[in-house]
Amino acid sequence: MKLFIDTANIEDIREMASYGIIKGVTTNPSLIAREGRKLEDVIQEIVKLVDGPISAEVKEASAEEMIAQARELAKIHKNIVVKIPMTWEGIKAVSVLSKEGIKTNVTLCFSVSQAQLAMEAGASFVSPFLGRMDDAGFDSEKLINDIVILRDNYGYATEIIAASIRSLHHVEISALAGSDIATIPTKVLKAMIKHPLTDKGLKIFADAAK
Ligand code: G3P
Repeated sequence: MKLFIDTANIEDIREMASYGIIKGVTTNPSLIAREGRKLEDVIQEIVKLVDGPISAEVKEASAEEMIAQARELAKIHKNIVVKIPMTWEGIKAVSVLSKEGIKTNVTLCFSVSQAQLAMEAGASFVSPFLGRMDDAGFDSEKLINDIVILRDNYGYATEIIAASIRSLHHVEISALAGSDIATIPTKVLKAMIKHPLTDKGLKIFADAAK
């Protein structure tokens, strides 16, 4: 499973990319707002740090307006993936953009039916939101498993990005389900290397080396 970083913070992207494990970046309007910067400025910097898909989200609007925004975003760099919301207008926009060769990531996916619409429209990526699924009292593990089954049953080319990742449990259920990608906030990425027995083992070896 490829690891993407889910942030618009340049320092976090720089640090995590330096470990050689980050294959792409996802942003959303909340993450951009947190940085207090313009989307285009942030994206221009990110493309220099990571050579892989970089998701930049359009503002929710009519299909025509989202298509216009998408064409502008796609001009910034070849790695730009335009994030489009899961609405009928969004699906219409994805159908048009996929025929133009503009890569899309359909976001805010909470069901197999929604994932199927994104896949049928030719989306490059679809993003089921695991954490928000759990917040609402539903089963995120079933969601990611079922969407992988859907993709495999029909051989859709759309890649699945497990998103709204809040914990190592979310990372691990996504990997075991067969998700193509998980997009992970910095804090959870950093937690992936931690294990108390590793810390204990390091101490034993360090003491022995003295
Ligand atoms: O990739 C989508 C993600 O950023 C949403 O995460 O934690 O706001 O549900 P969260």
